[in-house]
Amino acid sequence: MDVLISAVTAADVDAVVALARRSWQQTYSGIISQEQIDFMLEQRYHPQRLLEELTMPQIWWDQASFDGRLAGFSSCLITPTGNMKLDKLYVDPERQRMGIGAQLLDRVVGHALAAACETLILAVNKRNDRAIAAYRKHGFAVRESVCVAIGDGFVMDDFIMARSLAAHAARRHTR
Ligand SMILES: CC(C)(COP(=O)(O)OP(=O)(O)OC[C@H]1O[C@@H](n2cnc3c(N)ncnc32)[C@H](O)[C@@H]1OP(=O)(O)O)[C@@H](O)C(=O)NCCC(=O)NCCS
Repeated sequence: MDVLISAVTAADVDAVVALARRSWQQTYSGIISQEQIDFMLEQRYHPQRLLEELTMPQIWWDQASFDGRLAGFSSCLITPTGNMKLDKLYVDPERQRMGIGAQLLDRVVGHALAAACETLILAVNKRNDRAIAAYRKHGFAVRESVCVAIGDGFVMDDFIMARSLAAHAARRHTR
């Protein structure tokens, strides 16, 4: 399978936003309200915000292309406590279960190790069973349960999941 992982550039932003809209609609209808989907997309995927994040040294945006077309994207960032947070991971609904999420995750692990972070964390909606299954498959375990207000009366009812990268880091050091 010909999947190419590369950094998102300014020229890719419109395609990433379009894929986010499609993927969010498919993923979160039935989990959160349409009003919350629209609110969160506006908050997180405004093209101007993505363009700004692309210039920030502690945020990484990556994309997966399949047959020359955008098939998924991820973003990660270093938290104030020094962990790497997988902030976004979305694969085209038509391209899921082909290992593309795993490849984007590998890229994020690479960023974490390069930044000397030994733990990868993420927040996932408690009712997003498929993503939770995927994260478990890729070595994450639930660490905490949170419910965070995000404005306009909406909350994020999430599990915090974590994956230790200590073994990866040790392997790197012994090479
Ligand atoms: C979660 C996600 C990023 C995983 O990416 P992916 O490319 O499908 O994942 P991989 O092929 O690397 O791993 C596949 C695993 O994901 C889970 N999975 C992915 N799609 C699934 C589906 N439609 N139904 C059930 N399980 C699914 C399974 O655990 C699967 O393992 P299996 O095929 O051995 O059962 C992707 O499914 C996705 O974009 N989901 C919708 C968006 C989302 O929820 N993102 C996470 C937000 S926190």
